[in-house]
Amino acid sequence: MASVSEPPPYGKYKDINADDTPSRFNKCMSDDLNIQERVAHYDAWAKTYDEDMKSYGFTGPEIAVEYLKRYFKNTNATFLDCGAGTGLLGVYTKELGYTNFHALDASSVALEKAKSREAYTNFIQEFITTGKLSIESGVYDGLVCCGCFVPGHLEPDCVEDWCRIVKPGGIVIIVMNQRWLSKEPSYNEGKLEGAFQKRVDEGKWELIVREQRDGYFVNDVAEVFVFRVK
Ligand SMILES: C[S@@+](CC[C@H](N)C(=O)[O-])C[C@H]1O[C@@H](n2cnc3c(N)ncnc32)[C@H](O)[C@@H]1O
Repeated sequence: MASVSEPPPYGKYKDINADDTPSRFNKCMSDDLNIQERVAHYDAWAKTYDEDMKSYGFTGPEIAVEYLKRYFKNTNATFLDCGAGTGLLGVYTKELGYTNFHALDASSVALEKAKSREAYTNFIQEFITTGKLSIESGVYDGLVCCGCFVPGHLEPDCVEDWCRIVKPGGIVIIVMNQRWLSKEPSYNEGKLEGAFQKRVDEGKWELIVREQRDGYFVNDVAEVFVFRVK
């Protein structure tokens, strides 16, 4: 079995252009990149992303699929893997027989890799912003976002549009590294939780579960939020 180690300490690898696993991992969160450069990094990283994440014991997609199974017995329901990357989640949804999973990501190369898994039926290359996605309202029974609330990635208010594209009664599953709730300046001091709560207060969705799961990376904890859209 391949060895699994802790991810490198965030911010320690300043030579972000080095081509080794710790540098590739840290570069995706670097403050030095704008969003286009970050996505270009994901394009370049798509080839080795799966192996690099595996070497750090990343279990986000396994955790996400546990919640998917909990809330969706209907494997024909329509889902969006929002920030699908190379489609690691698709490996599990395919095994479980989910037939209508769409993949959205800004990285075209990552989406090509996701395509090769034959687990998704639609591919949307688009940036998630705080504005509207090109998707029509109320089309998804569920939306899963795994590992994308990360430094330099999604802005907290992007969830506004998720409440629009998911049908009333549909489910949004968010799996993220708990550390970013306190350590990432765009999310900490309640900024991310506040953005989630704002939509609760506005009657756009309700929180149905918030749980923690060990082993997101070797020593990291996953924070899982499940919302039902109203
Ligand atoms: C850490 S990866 C997670 C990918 C996948 N969900 C997983 O669990 O392996 C983050 C993904 O978010 C995508 N991403 C980052 N910012 C984005 C944005 N603003 N809009 C769309 N995709 C974005 C990246 O291209 C990358 O594929």
